[in-house]
Amino acid sequence: MFLDLGCGDGRIGEMVAARGVSVVGVDVNVRLARMAAGRHPVFVKRLPDLACVRDEVVDGAYAVLALEHFEGSKCFFTETARVTRSGGSLTIVINHPVYTAPRSGPVIDQTDGELLWRFGRYLSPGTSFEPAGHQAVEFRHRPVGALLTAAAGAGWHLEEVRERGMGPEAAARDDLAARHGDIPHLMAIRWRRRSRPGPSPER
Ligand SMILES: C[S@@+](CC[C@H](N)C(=O)[O-])C[C@H]1O[C@@H](n2cnc3c(N)ncnc32)[C@H](O)[C@@H]1O
Repeated sequence: MFLDLGCGDGRIGEMVAARGVSVVGVDVNVRLARMAAGRHPVFVKRLPDLACVRDEVVDGAYAVLALEHFEGSKCFFTETARVTRSGGSLTIVINHPVYTAPRSGPVIDQTDGELLWRFGRYLSPGTSFEPAGHQAVEFRHRPVGALLTAAAGAGWHLEEVRERGMGPEAAARDDLAARHGDIPHLMAIRWRRRSRPGPSPER
């Protein structure tokens, strides 16, 4: 069984379940959770707390474009590690931290028109608000080093990292974004749960 953390309306869970695994979603938004419930079981809970899940009962967990909204990444990694069996996986897809840093953004070099990226406050964790429909949604920025260190400290073994620039869909919406191909926009990371140490031998 896999946990879909911040499952939204359940569309990702439906794709994962189509591969033959069972999925249980968790989301704080009751309206979205109701929609997801038509696709797979869902708990309405505020993450990263997973107190409702027993130790080592899940095969893995994933969070797609959701971790940026949870308070407390350290708790996210320790809680997911607690509920995942040894050898299980954790996958996150996040807006790339280069993109979420407060005050980061594109700048044009006035001398030659080259598109450059301003790092803003990349090295400090912080928050920013981005427009989403009629409202502004809070994004929590965490530098890559802080994320990887928190995951390692919780017992997650790094397996794979992928980075992507803007896709053609985003480029079609925004002229500037169309020139963003080499600027990281999304990041996906997969970890494996290290085996837990067995009981120490009796002396
Ligand atoms: C951008 S949506 C992504 C939804 C889904 N993973 C997808 O990719 O289609 C972020 C989701 O995280 C949920 N969320 C935000 N903060 C949360 C929290 N503290 N606990 C649980 N869910 C949360 C939101 O309600 C929303 O459904």
